Amino acid sequence: MTDSNGPAVDSRAGGMQRRVEELLAQMTLAEKAGQLTQYFSFGAEVDLEDAPGSPQAPGEVSEALECGGVGSLLFVTDPAETNRLQRLAVAGNRLGIPALFGFDVIHGLRTVLPVPIALAASWDPETIERGQAVAAREARAVGIHWTFAPMVDVARDPRWGRIVEGAGEDPFLGAAVAAAQVRGFQGERLGSPERIVAGPKHLVGYGAALGGRDYDEVDLSDAQLWNTYLPPFKAAVDAGAGNIMTAYMPLNGVPATANDWLLKDVLRDEWGFTGFVVSDANAVRNLRTHGFAEDLTDAGARAVAAGVDLEMAITRPAYAHLPEAVESGAVSLEAVDACVRRVLEVKLRLGLFDSPFVDEDRARVVLHDPAHREVARVAAQRSAVLLRNEPVDGRPLLPLDAGALRSVAVVGPLADSPRDTLGPWVFDVDLEETVTVLQGLRDRLGGADVQYAPGVRPARRTFPSMFDMFPGNTPADPEGFDDDAELARAVELATRADIAVVVVGEWQHMIGEAASRSSLELPGRQQELLEAVVATGTPVVLLVMNGRPLDLRWAAEHVPAVLDIWYPGTQGGTAVADLLLGDAVPGGKLPFSWPRTVGQVPMIYSRTTSHEPENAERRYWDEASTPLFPFGHGLSYATFEHSDLTLDRESVDVEETVTARVTVTNTSGVDGEEVVQLYLHQRHGRAARPVRELKGFERVHVPAGASQTVEFQIGPDERRYWSAAVKGWVLDASTFDVWAGTDSNARLAGVFTTTTSS
Ligand code: BGC
Repeated sequence: MTDSNGPAVDSRAGGMQRRVEELLAQMTLAEKAGQLTQYFSFGAEVDLEDAPGSPQAPGEVSEALECGGVGSLLFVTDPAETNRLQRLAVAGNRLGIPALFGFDVIHGLRTVLPVPIALAASWDPETIERGQAVAAREARAVGIHWTFAPMVDVARDPRWGRIVEGAGEDPFLGAAVAAAQVRGFQGERLGSPERIVAGPKHLVGYGAALGGRDYDEVDLSDAQLWNTYLPPFKAAVDAGAGNIMTAYMPLNGVPATANDWLLKDVLRDEWGFTGFVVSDANAVRNLRTHGFAEDLTDAGARAVAAGVDLEMAITRPAYAHLPEAVESGAVSLEAVDACVRRVLEVKLRLGLFDSPFVDEDRARVVLHDPAHREVARVAAQRSAVLLRNEPVDGRPLLPLDAGALRSVAVVGPLADSPRDTLGPWVFDVDLEETVTVLQGLRDRLGGADVQYAPGVRPARRTFPSMFDMFPGNTPADPEGFDDDAELARAVELATRADIAVVVVGEWQHMIGEAASRSSLELPGRQQELLEAVVATGTPVVLLVMNGRPLDLRWAAEHVPAVLDIWYPGTQGGTAVADLLLGDAVPGGKLPFSWPRTVGQVPMIYSRTTSHEPENAERRYWDEASTPLFPFGHGLSYATFEHSDLTLDRESVDVEETVTARVTVTNTSGVDGEEVVQLYLHQRHGRAARPVRELKGFERVHVPAGASQTVEFQIGPDERRYWSAAVKGWVLDASTFDVWAGTDSNARLAGVFTTTTSS
């Protein structure tokens, strides 16, 4: 049950609702503004010089808590510190309202999972859900109540560094991954024990930043919004997400953080969202920067009026001006109260009034739970994507035969760097616990001689990053590193070895927020290193550590085996060793089309056809216009054949469902997993529809020699789309092509029609 502009009223909720109203009735306007304000609390270690005018210094945070000037904090991960601050909040503010602690628990807290784009590459909702449940358990144990995740922004331009935080280019896969993450974080219901509130972000379109430049403006048609960018948010809301974060940028000219259409018409009215909305950091203040709000009072008033319940503030919050805004009539008291209700409600739902503190001893136990490490290891195994596996001496190079290996050369600076193995968006980790690729191979290959050479030094960013303010985030260059001599040493090691494992990619902070790139080339001298090692004639396994596609044109021709391991997390090295030696079999698939070169981006498989003759492969003079690897691509040590695509009906009413069945057979002697994919195309209708769109997938385990039948429902939801011709959702009577197979080039085809009875 929902009331028109306010919180959900749950069945047990008469009591909760009364409590909210009692508190609200006693609050002053200043206290209400405080409840709607969130501060960072970085602690003493972080250098705040980059945030002038920031109220985040330890003393100021405590003071604000004590006088009720702030109702929520972020960035506190130490349970003792959480308890200290919570004591100040509970004892300090007049009404004893506990603080809500949020944090970027993006891919784990202490146990780091593979980065989100990697989790998406598993095409396995269960693995994703299990992983985020572990993240939630650790976070809740240290006193974090809410995560600013999942990031469900569709990303079609890999220059944009935040592609690493999402599920890639596709709305259907993105929706499935979004829902799985929400279930993992929140459990069965908001307030489940050992779980946290999920905050899908950033509503909406942030991934379409002009030129791939983080924070730049976004202009998207309604059709693109409804058909591509909004579905993962809708799926997250339907899965029960308790929070939504607004995006930084203006969407079609109107900042997302005061966008009435987005936050009211779409989110609340159309989707029935009853949780609370938070701004991105300083995004309310930024309404002034956009040239949208006149001053901070206007900014606060307009954000509240649009329904932004909580302001996340790096510098002095705009919501501190809410009392003036109400007094001057710039915003109504009712609008402020609606926001306060939603914030109080989530605190009550989480049980914070009854148990605001955490058990510090228990927190330590939870953070070290070996079962969590195992979940991370399996997630890393399942998210790796085998891009290429060509024969060397008559058989595919991978898996390696542990018994036959006497010497292995491990090459590349990322191969032994715990920080880079974890990827971006990790803060509170123990690097000692992180298993690098080198360590993983040494542990697994006890008998072989595993030698290491970095070969090249880590490439640096040209400009400093905002993340530099965190201690340890900008590791010093290795001392006395002689570039040419190191490269020569790596080549020499490779020459003497049976096999060379070369790890290339991007460093931890070349990807993520504020980490756009104008090139997709391997940074630094890594390409040169790779070519030199391949020239030795020793068979090379290339491991790619990345969160975006990189220019692998040369490798895709000259390196026999290429495995995308992403940033694989705490257990990364162990999982990589499992995969290389065949203890685990790769089964991940690309969640984006992998371009050949940056000049092709944005590149998507779900394009529309256009001018005849349609020759989509030759749109450039100087390069094919196909991807290097298609969306959905990923090999296995097993081989699969797809056959017998059947549709239960040739013609159905537009409101009815067609069932598709396809058989997948493991034609090899190795057990493996295949992600069977189903694509759909509508031949004619009230808009030109994409050449094909993913509408179903299932990751199935198929033992050697066995077959399995997979079933997909193609109902009205799979066929409905938003058409600019009628400015609304349509379900056309049309003819539909169906394809099933191993990637977005699937060729096994079927056809059906839909009709309207009227
Ligand atoms: C990012 C958000 C993040 C927030 C808090 C912002 O700069 O855009 O995604 O949740 O910081 O760290």
